[in-house]
Amino acid sequence: MDLLTKTLLVCLALGLTTAAPAPSDDAAADAEKGVAERPDRCEGVEFDAITLDENGTTHFFKGDYVWKGYHGEAQLTSKVFRDMNGHVDAAFRMHHSDNPDLHDHVFFFQDDKVFIYDNHTLEDGYPKTIQEVFPGVPDHLDAAVECPKGECNTDFILFFKDHEVYFFDLSTKTVKNKTWTHLPVCTSVLRWLEHYYCFHGNNFTRFNPVSGLVEEGYPKDARNYFMKCPNFGHGGKYSVPKCSEVKLDAVTMDDAGKKYFFAGRVYMRLDTSRDGLHGFPIARSWKEVANGVDAVFSYTDKLYMIKDNQVYIYKGRAHYTLIEGYPKTLKEELGIEGSVDAAFVCPGQDSVFIIQGRNMLRIDLTATPRVVNEDFPLPLFELDAGFCGPNGINVFKGSHYYEYKSPMLFALSKMVPRPLDITPEMMGCEA
Ligand SMILES: *[C@@H]1O[C@H](CO)[C@@H](O)[C@H](O)[C@H]1NC(C)=O
Ligand SMILES: *[C@@H]1O[C@H](CO)[C@@H](O)[C@H](O)[C@H]1NC(C)=O
Ligand SMILES: *[C@@H]1O[C@H](CO)[C@@H](O)[C@H](O)[C@H]1NC(C)=O
Ligand SMILES: *[C@@H]1O[C@H](CO)[C@@H](O)[C@H](O)[C@H]1NC(C)=O
Repeated sequence: MDLLTKTLLVCLALGLTTAAPAPSDDAAADAEKGVAERPDRCEGVEFDAITLDENGTTHFFKGDYVWKGYHGEAQLTSKVFRDMNGHVDAAFRMHHSDNPDLHDHVFFFQDDKVFIYDNHTLEDGYPKTIQEVFPGVPDHLDAAVECPKGECNTDFILFFKDHEVYFFDLSTKTVKNKTWTHLPVCTSVLRWLEHYYCFHGNNFTRFNPVSGLVEEGYPKDARNYFMKCPNFGHGGKYSVPKCSEVKLDAVTMDDAGKKYFFAGRVYMRLDTSRDGLHGFPIARSWKEVANGVDAVFSYTDKLYMIKDNQVYIYKGRAHYTLIEGYPKTLKEELGIEGSVDAAFVCPGQDSVFIIQGRNMLRIDLTATPRVVNEDFPLPLFELDAGFCGPNGINVFKGSHYYEYKSPMLFALSKMVPRPLDITPEMMGCEA
């Protein structure tokens, strides 16, 4: 299995999935309308369009129907996006627009019309013709996808029709076309976590949005990756935990404000929640601690990961590298022994708080050698994980967490504050 395969697999397993819709009233509506039988995507559907909505839920369209998320039955599109009747040729989410009037709006294309939705509600004045909104882009499209600057040369919307690809420049509103015969004709295109997927038949192919070149190892059957179907998938060992059964190993927030959760061999980055929350194998970013961590804290631009009596220090933002000479022992690095339950540094501070059982230690990270500067007994409970942000600390115990204004108030508190539940929005767990 290549990395992408594993990644997608874990994504599917932990993906924030939407509850299956109740089919009954739709079924009645179908019967009334005499609509063709509701399609079953596990039989192998060629989708008309695929897009995320503003909350990161993937929507798959076929004929009059839409599926929300990776499992569940299809429902009538008009029930989910009111006033969107019939088929959808193409769809995309405008995530990178500077224009707040368009940010996170979902665009649908049907014949010669474009429909723009905000929060699943059609914007006033729509539908309009494609010519009016995207001059130079043809009618009766096959697919559309956003390609922001950084991934494309500038902010483009890519429109697909047969082997022709139209690059619509959002700032100049001009269009150029290229012919990509090396890519299959895409009936839908999805941008997901910075990758581009062309769907054709029941297969999909990953491609480069600048050159159109196809990545190795494709096509693949969409049923193994983008939906849950009996007898498909790779039988991954990860499963979506129930929120009430969540147990974290570590949480941290780096100095860029990105929050990471760690549980077992999986981690999740919370700033990607607009693409849905997805678990990834820890091995993807920090291969030396692939089996899991006990505690993680961020200090300056580094991540300190603690497993058993070893400390691993990683540098970097998008791609982490283990600093030479690491891991070192807890004794060498922090001057402590034993195992660590949780650790955090507050923003702009130079002290790390280490939780070991019912003790909280403060260690000054600017001192050499490092020594325990203060030792507080914890009157209330032991922890699984904790982090410190601008509003104080959050400490996690099983499926609950507690908020305190500061590490000191946590150490000195004699009363347990109200436990807060870990929710699907926080972690992509199941309600
Ligand atoms: C998106 O999420 C927000 C906050 O959870 C919720 O209020 C809103 O209804 C959601 N929108 C859709 C279309 O699901
Ligand atoms: C989105 O729509 C839902 C239901 O129609 C509504 O409850 C919610 O307040 C709306 N959210 C925003 C941000 O307009
Ligand atoms: C652009 O598309 C038109 C058809 O719409 C086609 O005739 C022309 O060859 C295309 N140009 C390029 C550079 O592919
Ligand atoms: C899907 O891809 C497989 C190879 O992975 C290929 O054998 C099959 O013919 C493709 N099916 C369609 C409908 O393109």
